[in-house]
Amino acid sequence: MLKTLSIATLSLALIPAVSMANDGGTLQQGEKLYKSACVACHSTGAANAPKLGNKQAWAPIIARGMDEMMTVATNGKGAMPARGGTKADDAALRAAVEYMVSRAK
Ligand code: HEC
Repeated sequence: MLKTLSIATLSLALIPAVSMANDGGTLQQGEKLYKSACVACHSTGAANAPKLGNKQAWAPIIARGMDEMMTVATNGKGAMPARGGTKADDAALRAAVEYMVSRAK
């Protein structure tokens, strides 16, 4: 109960920070990369990838914060390939992560 509550509070605190970073069409950019690369695993949940739009799966990830998500997205973790198997630069990768986060609200 206490854990659920603090995760909810943390992700609520994170949402304004994330949406503030998205005033320059970044989300559309992120959606494009997502649809070209990340969709393969994140739309199906293949290899236990957190599924796009699955709030329950994303809440604890979002609660750890953008820095941690970017570290995993950049370097990979388990079945998650570094940069999702793309050559996307940090800005594009971050946009894709922000897009996924925006869909998990
Ligand atoms: C080959 C399948 C695959 C592809 C392609 C893929 N992912 Fe993942 N992703 C995973 C898996 C599996 C996990 C869960 C990793 C774990 O926690 O063990 C994951 C986890 C993540 C997470 C959560 C990180 C965290 O902090 O736990 C983010 C963010 C993410 N992926 C972003 C992306 C982005 C952005 C792309 C496209 C550029 C992408 N992924 C492409 C399989 C994939």
